[in-house]
Amino acid sequence: MKKELRRAVIAGNWKMNMTPSEASAAVEKTAELTAGKDGCDVILCVPFIDIPAAVEAAKGTNVKIGAQNVHFEEKGAYTGEISAKMLLEAGVEYVIIGHSERRQYFGETDTTVNLRTKAALAAGLKVILCLGEVKDERVNGITNEIVSMQTKLDLLGVSAEDMKNVIIAYEPVWAIGTGLTATPEQADETCGVIRAALAEIYGKELAEATTIQYGGSMNNANAAELLAKVNVDGGLIGGASLVPEKFDEIVTAAQAD
Ligand code: PGA
Repeated sequence: MKKELRRAVIAGNWKMNMTPSEASAAVEKTAELTAGKDGCDVILCVPFIDIPAAVEAAKGTNVKIGAQNVHFEEKGAYTGEISAKMLLEAGVEYVIIGHSERRQYFGETDTTVNLRTKAALAAGLKVILCLGEVKDERVNGITNEIVSMQTKLDLLGVSAEDMKNVIIAYEPVWAIGTGLTATPEQADETCGVIRAALAEIYGKELAEATTIQYGGSMNNANAAELLAKVNVDGGLIGGASLVPEKFDEIVTAAQAD
């Protein structure tokens, strides 16, 4: 019940959308619209190839730039992968790890998510760690067990000190890109379960200070209700983050909480 202890964070996940020139224009527009709305942090997580353009466009604005994945090795024979050091040198501050699309389509497991998380934190990146249940798990009543276990496995070996640089995104997989949204009550309850798992690992104080976002078809129409919930400290937004005007309405909604 300590929402004031936590920083609200609204992050866009552009997924595989936007060319570099489109990215530049969208970051500029987002920065212009969200300028001065400092009741929350504003982050845009862009495709790797868009990073230089996005970082350039975000310079001197309130928009921070994130990537959508990072490899756990420092360098080497890992074709197609990107290291934390590369991201940092390019001006990236945040990285999404463990998104359900990575888990579903690219073989990510809690083990690789944990390795990526530890490598990103060790290098100095801030992590947006995604987890959440699939539809069958919710229907069968095991959501709480699943998200607690994911929280514990994904954060194995992550120190309390490093947790200052971790945001958790609770993303029910059945709600991502489907237009289905968890009800504010479901989002609140499950974010609360994740917070309880954090308390088991790190103690209550750290759990109360950790930002937990909701993600899964959050948009300009439903953001205010979701963000009003005590355990929902922000949003990770896919589709609606591609339209700066819609994304800005979500940032505006976050100012009230
Ligand atoms: P969505 O995506 O808002 O398009 O559902 C959310 C996410 O995948 O982070």
